[in-house]
Amino acid sequence: MDRTFVMIKPDGVQRGIIGAIISRLEAKGLKLVAAKLTMLPEEKVMEHYAEHVEKPFFPSLKAYVMSGPVLTMVWEGRGSVAIVRRIVGATNPAEAAPGTIRGDMGMETGKNVIHASDSDESAAREIAIHFSADELVDYTRID
Ligand code: CMP
Repeated sequence: MDRTFVMIKPDGVQRGIIGAIISRLEAKGLKLVAAKLTMLPEEKVMEHYAEHVEKPFFPSLKAYVMSGPVLTMVWEGRGSVAIVRRIVGATNPAEAAPGTIRGDMGMETGKNVIHASDSDESAAREIAIHFSADELVDYTRID
């Protein structure tokens, strides 16, 4: 079954919108198979955002995602990568469509509430960075 990696960033945790975000993913029919509230160590940030380390915004991105706890999750469902990306919305919350998580709950790219994998390959890579295989729970969700 398809899986995707989702992370509620420190601003989302601190603003108390974890429940609202999870509700949207649950209501869609996606299945939560792993979750962890954690402070990201520097090495995981470097690995997770490897494609951005040379970008000018990387120092502020790194400081932002290490500024407080994040909620890392794995969600399962057919086509889950593309479905979650649509629910999350555009990277810049100021431009994200109303009805999306970023469109409804964020104001700026530097604090864009949530991360979601952009491809099946990214999902596999990101899940492996943040979770061990035995942390993914196998159960049946009744829709
Ligand atoms: P995310 O979906 O986690 O993927 C890469 C992150 O880099 C993105 O969300 C933003 O948090 C951040 N990002 C991307 N572009 C910029 C930018 N121009 N300025 C600051 N942060 C950015």
